[in-house]
Amino acid sequence: MASSVWLRFIWCLAILASASLAQKCWRETTCEGPEDSAFPGPWDKYIYAPSSRTVEPKEVLTISGTSPSNGGYRRSMPYTLQGNGSTVVFDFGVKVGGIITLNYTSTGSGALGLAFPETNSGTRQASDTSDDAPEGLRGALYAIFKEAGEGSYSVPDEDMRAGFRYMVVFLLADCSTEVSIEGVSLEIGFQPTWSNLRAYQGYFFSDDKLLNRIWYSGAYALQVNAMPARAVHQLPMMMDGKATDAKMGLDDMTVVDGIKADYEVWPGDMGTSVSSLFVSTGDLESTKNALQKVYNTQSNLTGAFNEPRGTFNPKSSETYHLWSMIGTFYYVLYSNDTDFLERNWEGYKSAMSYIYQKVDSTRGLLQATDTCNQDISRQASKSLEMQIILYHALKTGARLATWAKNSLTLSDNWSKQAEDLKHSINTHCWDDNYGAFKANITDTTLYPQVANSLAILYEITDPARSSRISENLIKNWTPNGAVTPELGGTFSPFTSTLEIHAHFAAGQPARALDLIHRSWTRYLQSPDSTSTSLSESPQNNTLKHIGFPPHAPHTHNNNQPTSPTHALTESILGLSVTSPIGLTWKIAPQFGNLHRVEGGFTTPLGKYQVSWETRAGGYDLAFAVPSGTKGNLTLPFVEPGRRPSIQIDGNDILRGVWWDEVRGTATVVVSGGGRCEVVVRG
Ligand SMILES: *[C@@H]1O[C@H](CO)[C@@H](O)[C@H](O)[C@H]1NC(C)=O
Ligand SMILES: *[C@@H]1O[C@H](CO)[C@@H](O)[C@H](O)[C@H]1NC(C)=O
Ligand SMILES: *[C@@H]1O[C@H](CO)[C@@H](O)[C@H](O)[C@H]1NC(C)=O
Ligand SMILES: *[C@@H]1O[C@H](CO)[C@@H](O)[C@H](O)[C@H]1NC(C)=O
Ligand SMILES: *[C@@H]1O[C@H](CO)[C@@H](O)[C@H](O)[C@H]1NC(C)=O
Ligand SMILES: *[C@@H]1O[C@H](CO)[C@@H](O)[C@H](O)[C@H]1NC(C)=O
Ligand SMILES: *[C@@H]1O[C@H](CO)[C@@H](O)[C@H](O)[C@H]1NC(C)=O
Ligand SMILES: *[C@@H]1O[C@H](CO)[C@@H](O)[C@H](O)[C@H]1NC(C)=O
Repeated sequence: MASSVWLRFIWCLAILASASLAQKCWRETTCEGPEDSAFPGPWDKYIYAPSSRTVEPKEVLTISGTSPSNGGYRRSMPYTLQGNGSTVVFDFGVKVGGIITLNYTSTGSGALGLAFPETNSGTRQASDTSDDAPEGLRGALYAIFKEAGEGSYSVPDEDMRAGFRYMVVFLLADCSTEVSIEGVSLEIGFQPTWSNLRAYQGYFFSDDKLLNRIWYSGAYALQVNAMPARAVHQLPMMMDGKATDAKMGLDDMTVVDGIKADYEVWPGDMGTSVSSLFVSTGDLESTKNALQKVYNTQSNLTGAFNEPRGTFNPKSSETYHLWSMIGTFYYVLYSNDTDFLERNWEGYKSAMSYIYQKVDSTRGLLQATDTCNQDISRQASKSLEMQIILYHALKTGARLATWAKNSLTLSDNWSKQAEDLKHSINTHCWDDNYGAFKANITDTTLYPQVANSLAILYEITDPARSSRISENLIKNWTPNGAVTPELGGTFSPFTSTLEIHAHFAAGQPARALDLIHRSWTRYLQSPDSTSTSLSESPQNNTLKHIGFPPHAPHTHNNNQPTSPTHALTESILGLSVTSPIGLTWKIAPQFGNLHRVEGGFTTPLGKYQVSWETRAGGYDLAFAVPSGTKGNLTLPFVEPGRRPSIQIDGNDILRGVWWDEVRGTATVVVSGGGRCEVVVRG
């Protein structure tokens, strides 16, 4: 019952509050993160983050993957390497990153090579090439020893490796030399300002274990990608035959895209990763620093954002430009950081002018000149996708303008431009015979997954059209997930997560959950997966990153596919904020085939928490929100087409209900905050 869930929650809070341990932040970094989790409870067992900043490997493996001692790390130590090329693999059990220290004793001179693969199929004497860097730049590190005796090697800070699960250690020495490895430890570098890496400010717990794992693996992937900016070098890019060599920046922490791949701030996924951070760890600092880098490198002449890549600044992508603008909106929505908004408002406005002047006056559509090499194959279909992203940038921009000073006229203008664009898209790109948007105004055979998903998600069209799109998207499904027509029929976790959001937005939770199950069962259980994090493209994808070897594994720790984390919180649990830091909020659960879900998150105003449980003939729901807040409670009908009975805290609710017979929901406005129990019966 919902109320027993609450009792247990309060009880756990009392027990666990005293159990937090004193822990460390990274090096000299000022601790800014929270010390304790906001909602301790049995769901904490799903958190992948270790409880200490210093960890040791879990297992020791031979290169062929077997365990030499069957006894885990401790029992395998010391481990002796003998002869040139002999090799051992240390498995940390989850994706990690930071500074390795290795103690050893040798009988002669030589070197130990250290390589850091992400997956076990990549365990060899070089780090796997799951990045865009030219082969060789991510080879091994070497601990050189000149004579027999004890030694200790620590990876130099500037060579810090991240986003690996395995460490391969191999010996380069005369055949007679033996090296005994006595101990290995790792000082974790990610999320440097947090002393307690498990101090999540949000949680999610359902009766479906796979969903819980997905939620927490998304959260952990984002943690691993929050880098100590001062300590690491950016991804070396080849420029004029030389590898670039720049530091990430001066901030304590910045969020990067797939840590193994890029070591880069990459705005392309800010539309989703910011929300996933907000509902899970609650860490917005890394996002703020990443966004500030985007504004700091904006072109003064044109207003275009660069991809902030230090010496490598490809001015090119309208898509990334727009996502940076959308990321700005979500950051301010979740933080109410009006100082940040004021500081960057001129930049934001010139970014909007820059992009909007590309809208042509005849059809009212964006004329994109996106030349970024990423996803070349999608260029042809970018047209529609970019129109829809521009629409969302205008809509969110119009809301941002109401939070900035003296910008209400601008807000009205952007809203008007958004409406005009929406009209143009529906006029020129809708295919009414098929029931979906076509890739561009001329193409009539390609109905892209991304653009159609975004069309539903960003409400570019009416409910009737959304419902047809949702139905047609299923045509791309296979038992292993949805194939992406615009990517030549491969699977793409990123685009599939957008489709998952879309089915939820279309009021089709069963479809969304089905797609989650089809795709993630494979991602998380595939032998090549790191089991804790998410791949950008788990399949061979010859179309992506043209110019790189088709079978180069892509990173398994990308930000892009982390968006189910917030989809589950916002659409299944049903909890989201609708104005800065949740002064207004929305609770609109969707049940699918689930029976019991609870979760919550935190803003500076306090804690937001929802739990629900389905019962014979209806469901019970409980929620608690900070006092002084106000929101809409949108309750699904129990039986299609029949208005249910609603009780809140024992009182029958007869008036003030807004019945939506088409969607099958009843909406009640709840103000004041506090805790309520809701009983709904068919
Ligand atoms: C050890 O093996 C490496 C690579 O196979 C080779 O380059 C090196 O010369 C060998 N060293 C000795 C001392 O045999
Ligand atoms: C390495 O040796 C040093 C000095 O004896 C010791 O303090 C440290 O704990 C050892 N580290 C590991 C991982 O064994
Ligand atoms: C833009 O102009 C400001 C002030 O003139 C300057 O500080 C900044 O570095 C310039 N930005 C770029 C990207 O040139
Ligand atoms: C957001 O910040 C502004 C400016 O500091 C403040 O006036 C406003 O009350 C804040 N909003 C909330 C919900 O606290
Ligand atoms: C809003 O649009 C009107 C009409 O296009 C224009 O005259 C005005 O300058 C715009 N206002 C702002 C603040 O951009
Ligand atoms: C429309 O899309 C098709 C297929 O994706 C592509 O071949 C064509 O060049 C595109 N047309 C325009 C005008 O972008
Ligand atoms: C990926 O490509 C490699 C090399 O072409 C091939 O050996 C492997 O079987 C492919 N894997 C999948 C899952 O298709
Ligand atoms: C509730 O929903 C209505 C209709 O969408 C909206 O106008 C109103 O602002 C919402 N109220 C709150 C407190 O979010």
